[in-house]
Amino acid sequence: MKKILITGGAGFIGSHVVRLFVNKYPDDTIVNLDKLTYAGNLQNLTDIENKPNYTFVKGDILDKDLIKSLFEKYNFDGVIHLAAESHVDRSITNPLEFAETNILGTMVLINAAKNHWKNNFAQKLFYHISTDEVYGSLGEEGIFTETTPYSPHSPYSASKAGSDHFVRAYHDTYGLPIVISNCSNNYGANQFPEKLIPLSINNIKNQKNIPIYGKGENIRDWLFVEDHAEAIDTIFHKGKNGETYNIGGNNEWKNIDLIRLLCQIMDKKLGREKGTSEKLITFVKDRAGHDLRYAIDSSKLQKELGWKPSLQFEEGLEKTVEWYLASEAWLENVVSGEYQKYYQKQYS
Ligand code: NAD
Ligand code: TYD
Repeated sequence: MKKILITGGAGFIGSHVVRLFVNKYPDDTIVNLDKLTYAGNLQNLTDIENKPNYTFVKGDILDKDLIKSLFEKYNFDGVIHLAAESHVDRSITNPLEFAETNILGTMVLINAAKNHWKNNFAQKLFYHISTDEVYGSLGEEGIFTETTPYSPHSPYSASKAGSDHFVRAYHDTYGLPIVISNCSNNYGANQFPEKLIPLSINNIKNQKNIPIYGKGENIRDWLFVEDHAEAIDTIFHKGKNGETYNIGGNNEWKNIDLIRLLCQIMDKKLGREKGTSEKLITFVKDRAGHDLRYAIDSSKLQKELGWKPSLQFEEGLEKTVEWYLASEAWLENVVSGEYQKYYQKQYS
């Protein structure tokens, strides 16, 4: 009968985590705190919004009074912290917002946890969700392990690295029970179409160009979002205090190869002639400071806690395409208004 605060639960990954916890742990109380920025969307959670063990609170992790009052009201045993600004391209145009939300916001939360728990840390846990991007960029060889030194390059990854350091500092200085996980690129339902896969699905559907940065040779290690949510559940319940766990699918793809596969799947699903969507591929100006390659070694999580990814990439990508094609109202809603301005500015 735990009381758990999940932050950023209306976003892409957070919504899958909230759904999993609300359904799997009916005796736990799940409070989802989300500011509902452009990336937060309560439509991601309509299937569980009326469950008795679920409460949504609209609010900002930077709001100290609100966070304090939530700890007092619910007396949380655990926090799973996902709320963040999450898009690298936006961090390049607006780095300060990333420092505020990702570093200061994490500080506000962890400080509230420390103050509320008052050194009575038994059965308490602050779980910070981070990214593999804190480790920097790999060349052709190598893989990120939990001991790879941090070397972030973008304002996004620097802000996530900063928040990871503060979380570890609270463990080392005050003895706060923490775990951190660093995950590779996620894909699946509910991802905002500013990220590579949903942006490309939306453009292919509307027969618009698919913008590939540089030569499309950058490599990412892709994990199905529901597998990430399962990993978070495993780490929250079985992870060891103070530890870091890498999460990844052992699934590296060059961007251009991934997009070609996506084009083939979309041609099939949309009943278009083979090769139609590939014609939309357009190479555009590269992202500043674009990391060449990410690859995650998740053997610690697999060996010590028994998690493993459930899906092959082709299968996950097909499921993802099917979800976007079946979710026209969701997509139309998020690509109207602000998105058009963002797209124009980013890709003109
Ligand atoms: P997202 O952008 O889809 O969702 C972020 C959520 O946080 C949104 O619902 C937004 O409204 C909320 N939020 C933002 N600022 C807030 C604030 N000040 N107060 C309260 N809520 C706020 O992000 P995502 O892709 O779901 O990522 C979730 C977490 O996982 C992030 O911490 C991210 O760094 C991490 N992560 C993401 C990936 C990935 O591939 N997407 C991979 C590894 C780690
Ligand atoms: P993205 O989905 O933004 O995730 P991240 O930058 O966190 O890895 O990008 C994934 C890869 O796709 C990355 O190498 C950048 C590239 N990319 C494009 O080529 N074109 C695009 O329009 C976007 C958004 C990304």
